[in-house]
Amino acid sequence: MKVNQLLFVFFILMGFKAYSQIPADYLPKDFHESRREALRAKMPTNSVAVIFANPLRNRANDVDFVFHQDPNFYYLTGYREPNGVLVLFSDMQQTEDGKTYNEMLFVQKKDKRAEQWDGKRLGIEGAKSELGFNRVMNGEDFKSANINFKAFDRVFIEKFNDDYRNSARNKGEIYDLVKAFKEQANYNPKNFLSPLKKQIYELVKSTPIENSANVAQIIGRALAYDPSLKSDTDLMNFKDATEIAVKKDLKEKITLKLDAKTNIDVSFLSNNLATLREVKTAAELKLLTKAIRISAVGQIEVMKAMKPHMSETELQGIHEFVYKKYGAEYEGYPSIVGAGNNGCILHYIENNKTKVGNDLVLMDLGAEYRGYTADVTRTIPANGKFTKEQKAIYNIVLEAQNAGIAAYKIGESMAKPNQIARAIVNKGLFDLGIIKSKDEKHPYFPHGTSHHIGLDVHDPGNYGNFEEHMVVTMEPGIYIPEGSNCDKKWWGIGIRIEDDILVTKNGPVNLSEGAPRTVKAIEKMMAKKSVLDDFVLPNLDE
Ligand code: GLY
Ligand code: MN
Ligand code: MN
Repeated sequence: MKVNQLLFVFFILMGFKAYSQIPADYLPKDFHESRREALRAKMPTNSVAVIFANPLRNRANDVDFVFHQDPNFYYLTGYREPNGVLVLFSDMQQTEDGKTYNEMLFVQKKDKRAEQWDGKRLGIEGAKSELGFNRVMNGEDFKSANINFKAFDRVFIEKFNDDYRNSARNKGEIYDLVKAFKEQANYNPKNFLSPLKKQIYELVKSTPIENSANVAQIIGRALAYDPSLKSDTDLMNFKDATEIAVKKDLKEKITLKLDAKTNIDVSFLSNNLATLREVKTAAELKLLTKAIRISAVGQIEVMKAMKPHMSETELQGIHEFVYKKYGAEYEGYPSIVGAGNNGCILHYIENNKTKVGNDLVLMDLGAEYRGYTADVTRTIPANGKFTKEQKAIYNIVLEAQNAGIAAYKIGESMAKPNQIARAIVNKGLFDLGIIKSKDEKHPYFPHGTSHHIGLDVHDPGNYGNFEEHMVVTMEPGIYIPEGSNCDKKWWGIGIRIEDDILVTKNGPVNLSEGAPRTVKAIEKMMAKKSVLDDFVLPNLDE
């Protein structure tokens, strides 16, 4: 190529870059391709997986909520639009004219008018070039593609929540796609078991009758999680039965129900995607680490800026501004900023107290960066100085957290950090006289300490032992709401400290350590000047 030709290409590329100034650090298409390969490798022969994108959801009148892709669908495709379907085959398929393929992607049809109102669509050609799929069709052609789902030994889907509406805007909405799938695959929920039911039935089958009291207890707990189990008369009778002969009879009946009456399976995908997603690849770790570091900087900036006259809303805004400044597109979950007693409400998202005053402020927020979400909590005194009581409780939580983090080792049970933290919290509360015995059941630490993060803030996983490159939170807390059964001086103290821990061969790495955690480090950071000290807006109420 001559020099002037090279220059021409260079300027075209520069022009294209300037035109398409959108972030360039999304997961690459070979990541998604490798995830499809990994899932396909787990699929038995003559099976097919059908995975739906998220629908658009209506906020009010003609305004929709900001779209967020279904994480499993995103993991496997990289497609960031609604109304898509991925069909993944275990074996090569053949078209009538002899072309082979083992996956199909259905996408939103290109539509000039819709794109003028709601933004660009990749369409068929874009999905081929940007996402690397070979066989792509418009969503509205899903029905006429006529995939013979009945011919497969197994058809893997995720449980439908049936929570999408028919907006009738076009014929390729999730509503239409799911409807077409159900018709073509002879879908009848009466013919298959939910993952929870399947698990319980298998437990009933494998547990000797003399140990069935334990199973009855597990059924009781499952009922709290899924009250629809109540309508399963055999299971309820099994739970309540006292006579061995009755139990035996019911066990036989329940075991028979395990035999599949359909080729549709709603457990395989959730189980196997959990296994894949719980261990992060290098590309994922890069994005997740960035989301976490951004969130830690948010905590630092708020530590510097916080003043007692500020509102919870304003503090939330400072965190979220920092996220946006780094180009993070969303928050990974609704931000929690709770002062005093509000900090004792675990998922407090109103954030509407107008002055945080001299209380502790619990701030649980996470940036979502290119789909990956952090989950970081700091609890700090609004006026910059912990009181004696606040400090006493804070240091118990911190000790519990540090001891828990030390157990984030390859091969260790994922239940261990929670056990360690709980023992330290109980001892601490006992030493302060807040509980009367270390074994006392109390309401002050009502949640677990450790969950995976990733594309979801509560990322799927199997929760067995720690493995290399898992990223798991460590989040003990103590919450003593007003009116608690202890000295009034403890009331209104709600403290959680939450960090995101990477499991490595060399031990745990705290990815959110940038945000100060000790009393001393927090007080030191809060004494610093903030650029926001001079950011004064006009008073609009005069
Ligand atoms: N922010 C939700 C959680 O900590 O699990
Ligand atoms: Mn968490
Ligand atoms: Mn959290």
